[in-house]
Amino acid sequence: MAILVTGGTGYIGSHTVVELLHKNEEVVVVDNFINSSSEVVDKIKKITGKEFKFYEVDILDKEKLQKVFEENHITEVIHFAGLKAVGESVAKPLEYYNNNITGTLVLLQVMREYDCKKIIFSSSATVYGDQGVPKYVETMGRGKTTNPYGTTKAMIEKILEDLYVSDNTWGIVLLRYFNPVGAHESGLIGDNPNGIPNNLMPYVQKVAAGRLPELSIYGNDYPTKDGTGVRDFIHVVDLAKGHINAIEKLEKDKTGVYVYNLGTGIGYSVLDIVNTFEKVNGVKVPYKIAPRRAGDLAELYADPTKAKEELGWVAEKNLEDMCRDSWNFAKTN
Ligand code: NAD
Ligand code: WQD
Repeated sequence: MAILVTGGTGYIGSHTVVELLHKNEEVVVVDNFINSSSEVVDKIKKITGKEFKFYEVDILDKEKLQKVFEENHITEVIHFAGLKAVGESVAKPLEYYNNNITGTLVLLQVMREYDCKKIIFSSSATVYGDQGVPKYVETMGRGKTTNPYGTTKAMIEKILEDLYVSDNTWGIVLLRYFNPVGAHESGLIGDNPNGIPNNLMPYVQKVAAGRLPELSIYGNDYPTKDGTGVRDFIHVVDLAKGHINAIEKLEKDKTGVYVYNLGTGIGYSVLDIVNTFEKVNGVKVPYKIAPRRAGDLAELYADPTKAKEELGWVAEKNLEDMCRDSWNFAKTN
């Protein structure tokens, strides 16, 4: 009886596989390395001292995916595999819809064929769109998404809801992540985007390492405490642990569709990140103020109450931990 992790060598997936192995779960990972590397497989084994099965498979390849289900008794799937760069999704919508939507459809068809009907899906706070207030709670509906990436997340949530309507023996958990940052404390795995990063923390890491000259802070005239954008940054290890709680929920309640925010509930500004990163790591992060980035909201953070009450999950790591572990990973990679 194994848990299948799609995209399990990626940033969040690798940390989740570590937590699953710590819990002595049997784990099977599939990934096509479109945004990760084969080295991560050995790094996970090194961190945990445990073995797991790995398949280099594109989830769009139905036959290869069927073989994975043929060779293993998969009881639950944690589905991370997807493309995630917002800007790239605007330039390549067909690639994003095909990979994220078709990939998920193929996966769900194979799961149904093998009578595996429990899935945890990596959704995103981006599905809320602009709700007009900064604190996002699950009772708010999905809002208007602003890019193809976000639209794939909203569409997959809807596909999964429709699937449950058609067959209420499915157990589905939609986890809406806020802003994952940080890395495993070993420094072996972390967020390692190719090229110039889009997201704040990987950019800060490269500036601190001297590989990029300075950070552009996108706007300092927002109606926030210091004028810079405010987000709910969450340590990736806390996020990974949330998936263990979600698995336990599906093992207990078996069927239904459940939606949870995974965030800390605290909003930190871009300047908070820069200042804390400099302070805890003793490094400089030169920056300039640049114009606002199109599509950005001023402030958003999670109401994480539902995950606490129903999953028994709360984020435990603070901003210092996030900045320290991010730098520890960046320094050695
Ligand atoms: P990531 O790119 O590091 O990991 C995704 C993994 O999926 C990669 O290893 C990639 O190689 C693999 N993959 C992509 N398409 C595949 C395919 N067709 N077949 C097999 N493998 C494939 O991204 P991440 O940050 O770990 O994100 C994981 C999931 O969480 C994604 O679905 C992402 O959209 C979602 N998410 C991420 C964030 C974030 O800020 N990192 C926030 C909200 C939601
Ligand atoms: C955070 C803050 C920027 C870079 C994105 C996706 C979202 C989710 C998480 C997947 C903002 C500011 C950034 C820089 C800056 N991903 N910033 N200079 O935009 O909140 O969320 O990642 O689901 O869908 O949209 O994250 O890290 O890009 O930005 O000033 O070089 O940092 O303006 O205020 P975002 P981010």
